[in-house]
Amino acid sequence: MSTPTIAPVASAAVDLRGVSKTFSSRREDVEVLRAVDFHAGAGEFVSVIGPSGCGKSTLFSLIAGLTIADAGTVTIDGRPLDPDAHPVAYMPQKDLLLPWRSVIRNVTLPLQVMGIDRAAARAKAQALFPLFALDGFEDAYPFTLSGGMRQRAALMRTVIQERPLMLLDEPFGALDSLTRADMQDFLLDVWQRFRHTVVFITHDIREAIYLSDRIHVMTARPARVRMVVEVDLPRPRTPQLVATPEFAALETQLLTALREENAEMRLHERVR
Ligand SMILES: Nc1ncnc2c1ncn2[C@@H]1O[C@H](COP(=O)(O)OP(=O)(O)OP(=O)(O)O)[C@@H](O)[C@H]1O
Ligand SMILES: [Mg+2]
Repeated sequence: MSTPTIAPVASAAVDLRGVSKTFSSRREDVEVLRAVDFHAGAGEFVSVIGPSGCGKSTLFSLIAGLTIADAGTVTIDGRPLDPDAHPVAYMPQKDLLLPWRSVIRNVTLPLQVMGIDRAAARAKAQALFPLFALDGFEDAYPFTLSGGMRQRAALMRTVIQERPLMLLDEPFGALDSLTRADMQDFLLDVWQRFRHTVVFITHDIREAIYLSDRIHVMTARPARVRMVVEVDLPRPRTPQLVATPEFAALETQLLTALREENAEMRLHERVR
């Protein structure tokens, strides 16, 4: 069997400056983002937290080039985002594996879309299966896998694209807490091997602290960045870290901010 291709890939810095976005329909205009500034340096792990519905996934769709901003700039390594250069691998919030394709055919799908021939794509995927602890499940169908296995497969489908920037939108939201903790360590391990830049959306403050170099806290809609918190905790991160006073202090700071923004969001929804 060939050895997994676990060489680091190139990583890219991403910056948003003054990015605004309003969605307009016949019924109403929804101002989602207002002058958002965001920074993730090359090879960093940066998280975004904020109230539900504030515009986090919209932020990702702008960075992926799927939505165009009304104002402001999105740059990759200091140059305006060029979606045709494919800098981004995006794992959307509802990342469903296609039920009629085997695991390996799900994982190779983006490579096929990129025009890589089937045998080469399969060989490349095959080499990654041990790293994602899915060896032996290449030809299984998604419905036969556990939730954690499905998320590892979806993550493999994102990693295999070898893009400098990975956007992960609440990838572990549906998992039980133990599986989720395993997946966090697993993701850190993958990130440390490949060293892409990772931008990660979560609702879980502890998850954000445990994983990140930096956390952007979004306000209620129209969302701005309320604060940016540097997570100056040693790596590799270990489960014991969660019990330290430094971790607890960050958690309290973030929880206070998020509670205020959640309350603001509920108020806003009531008066609409
Ligand atoms: N394509 C679209 N057209 C119209 N409105 C949209 C579109 N995409 C998102 N919205 C609206 O923008 C707002 C923000 O949505 P978004 O999905 O970015 O929030 P979110 O922060 O990711 O929420 P959650 O935490 O629940 O995933 C919502 O009010 C949503 O209805
Ligand atoms: Mg979302």
